[in-house]
Amino acid sequence: MSEARKILVTSALPYANGSIHLGHMLEYIQTDMWVRFQKLRGNQAIYVCADDAHGSAIMLRAEKEGITPEQLIANVQAEHTADFADFGVNFDNYHSTHSDENRELSAAIYLKLRDAGHIATRSVTQYFDPEKGMFLADRFIKGTCPKCAAEDQYGDNCEKCGATYEPTELKNPRSAISGAVPELRDSKHFFFKLPDFDAMLKSWTRGGALQDAVANKIAEWLDSGLQEWDISRDAPYFGFEIPDEPGKYFYVWLDAPIGYMASFKNLCARTPELDFDAFWGKESSAELYHFIGKDIVNFHALFWPAMLEGAGYRKPTAVCVHGYLTVNGQKMSKSRGTFIKARTYLDHLNPEYLRYYYAAKLGRGVDDLDLNLEDFVQKVNSDLVGKVVNIASRCAGFIHKGNNGLLLAGNIAPELTEAFDAATPAIAEAYESRDFARAMREIMALADRANAWIADKAPWSLNKQPGKEAEVQAICALGVNLFRQLVIFLKPVLPQLAKDAEAFLNVAPLTWDDHKYLLADHQLNPFNALLTRIEPAKIEAMIEASKEDLAASEAAPAAQGNGELVKDPLASEIAFDAFAAVDLRIALIEKCEFVEGADKLLRLTLDIGDAKRNVFSGIKSAYPDPSKLEGRLTLYVANLAARKMKFGISEGMVLAAGPGGEEIYLLSPDSGAKPGQRVK
Ligand code: 2FM
Ligand code: ZN
Repeated sequence: MSEARKILVTSALPYANGSIHLGHMLEYIQTDMWVRFQKLRGNQAIYVCADDAHGSAIMLRAEKEGITPEQLIANVQAEHTADFADFGVNFDNYHSTHSDENRELSAAIYLKLRDAGHIATRSVTQYFDPEKGMFLADRFIKGTCPKCAAEDQYGDNCEKCGATYEPTELKNPRSAISGAVPELRDSKHFFFKLPDFDAMLKSWTRGGALQDAVANKIAEWLDSGLQEWDISRDAPYFGFEIPDEPGKYFYVWLDAPIGYMASFKNLCARTPELDFDAFWGKESSAELYHFIGKDIVNFHALFWPAMLEGAGYRKPTAVCVHGYLTVNGQKMSKSRGTFIKARTYLDHLNPEYLRYYYAAKLGRGVDDLDLNLEDFVQKVNSDLVGKVVNIASRCAGFIHKGNNGLLLAGNIAPELTEAFDAATPAIAEAYESRDFARAMREIMALADRANAWIADKAPWSLNKQPGKEAEVQAICALGVNLFRQLVIFLKPVLPQLAKDAEAFLNVAPLTWDDHKYLLADHQLNPFNALLTRIEPAKIEAMIEASKEDLAASEAAPAAQGNGELVKDPLASEIAFDAFAAVDLRIALIEKCEFVEGADKLLRLTLDIGDAKRNVFSGIKSAYPDPSKLEGRLTLYVANLAARKMKFGISEGMVLAAGPGGEEIYLLSPDSGAKPGQRVK
């Protein structure tokens, strides 16, 4: 027997200013299923989380409600924990980032970083709201888009044309809080020197901690050069004051991931057998997993491992990234009633339906997951009710009526139990690698075999024939045993069904290894319906109620992160309109040269017909003699937002293919193409 693994698992901390919705639940449910699987296997798995309680949004929301931030976060935490509990999400600890443990750990980590020389300070000029007396984050400035002149756009990007810009570029800027015209003011800011960790991050992000798609995206960021990260905010701010710096606060994203540690520390304080250092110390042999949505990859796969390294802690074993949730193929929508809060769902439907549906559709990738409500009804009814529960309900009655509920010993179809045994390692492996969809497919294939066998034996017909009583009992005994096996395999996904099944089976809580044995000469309890079919009317009622939610929560800001579809930083699919918006042109490479101090970049001067452009391109490894590219035509993205890099501004991008290294192939048009021609 191998030794039990020590595994610490987290989900992203939800903001303490909004309700949990089904997008959030995609993350908490998958983390919970994975942790339950580990526990079922006998590993020491610990699942911690907390509310993410700091930041200006929470401060302003509390002010609007006329309560203190502390009151607001306490109210929201009570709502969140009830939602999670009712969805069967079983945290070992649920804490808050506004806690003593987090205050102490954040200060200690900051001081270690500072004393090791990883903190820089410099003055930053920012918009300041003179009426409100506070500096304004980009989201709190509104004005006219400098690119397309759309009004009422945020300070960092335009929702109309997609342009990104600095708040100072906005025309006619206004404070979104007071409406005042903001003034530019200087203030001292503190920066975490992320570039100090460049080499470590390059190796850690390629060392198996990330899915390939995530590692590739991060490699792009690493190649374009890491920037120092601003970790401070000025008062007034709801958060922790920076040690030795009165009036300066940690930016919410500095202390949020430290909240993972703080929640665990809080658990250690009341669990004597848990040792904080055994999990977080540099030499820890424990495993550490963070489940997150793809919108917050930079915080978890760059800033966080760098902070941990700089402060002398271990780094995560893996960051497990998932995609967003869509409903009926579209972004969740309040007007369509598909922006469904966790509580609204619970008011209408059994949480285990959703747990199963998510499991059935969740692979290892970062693709978005679609909750198609028709498919949801169909799949749950067909798989859970029609296949799994059906086995027990077909067999239990005969054992109760024919043998007073006593399940007899014996196995009249060893080939069937052998097939179940043979499938077990693959099911476990699928769970372990978080390929829940594959695990569900394997389990349902077994359920199909069990059902087909029972249908073939037809105990309901035999039961009408005299002298067949023993055969009926033997068939049903095996049927109930196969049902029990399926329940073991499904227990991480369907904890309540497992509990009810354990009560019917009259057994102690099942563990994974229990699949190795069959019940024999065993008294069953009466069978009650374990799951009922989803009635489509319930779905309609939930959608209607979600439409009502809109009126009630008009003023609430949309929650971000944790799976709600906001923007897709790892996008793998784009709409045609987005493609058509790319201004692709033929460019002539006039000049191509090395960039001093850059390992991978070449500087290209492009002639695009009516203008010249300067582009940095990471293709040096394939073109060691840059002059060979001069005079060549290539394809150029002309309307890509200019990017400030360490070596200057890159205006757009040239297109190349290949895996990297020497294998990078710059794309070229057929001869005859002219610089400036648009690609159609
Ligand atoms: O995106 C979000 O919802 C953040 N509140 C997640 C924080 S995760 C962790 F780093 F704290
Ligand atoms: Zn615009």
